[in-house]
Amino acid sequence: MRLQLLFLAFPVIHAAAIRWMPLGDSITDYGCWRAWLWERFQNEGYDVDLVGGERAGENCRGLDFDRDHEGHPGYMAVDIVAKKQLVDWLKKNPADVVTMHLGTNDIFRGNKKTGEILEAYTTLVDVMRGSNPGMRIIVAQIIPLPAVDRQVQELNRAIPAWAESKNSSASPIWLVDQWTGFTSADLKDGIHPSESGDAKMAERFWPALVRAIGTIQGR
Ligand SMILES: *[C@@H]1O[C@H](CO)[C@@H](O)[C@H](O)[C@H]1NC(C)=O
Repeated sequence: MRLQLLFLAFPVIHAAAIRWMPLGDSITDYGCWRAWLWERFQNEGYDVDLVGGERAGENCRGLDFDRDHEGHPGYMAVDIVAKKQLVDWLKKNPADVVTMHLGTNDIFRGNKKTGEILEAYTTLVDVMRGSNPGMRIIVAQIIPLPAVDRQVQELNRAIPAWAESKNSSASPIWLVDQWTGFTSADLKDGIHPSESGDAKMAERFWPALVRAIGTIQGR
């Protein structure tokens, strides 16, 4: 009986909710782009559970959305690696899919070089795969940061080759360009997305999330 139940718990088609961890800094914590994605998952019939140890507090048109995430204001990718924080976050809240929008603070606060940030990304991907060998990983080319955008663009230009070198069929990495076409009107304070910026971020993450979910569900 027990064995049979165990067997039934692992059907070929993944029937459980897909666990999505939004990972990042304040650009992931603040605003409503996660809320808009959650709403679209509901509207289009996807069973997605947002996971993470943080709870967003913002009001997004009164939507009662799933507020769990791992967006940490001010955090740098290099620090998350140095402090081994992602290991713990994923232990507490395992995920099937991670979206990562990180590097803004490395550049803005830490003046980190592209190579140092990519090295941190590499470790973060290794940690994700250590937690789940089949992790679907969605990496953002980050939104503009007008004060230091030359460095942002340099990082964004380096991300595709880095991602390709870290790619694997068991744990694919997909890129989402959050920079191109993101204007100053899409920022509310020179750093964080405005309403239109939130809408753009959600729209751009959407196809990558749908694709990632499709590969988990065998579609
Ligand atoms: C990684 O591989 C997948 C196929 O498994 C592909 O769809 C994706 O574009 C690749 N990512 C990169 C960054 O090359």
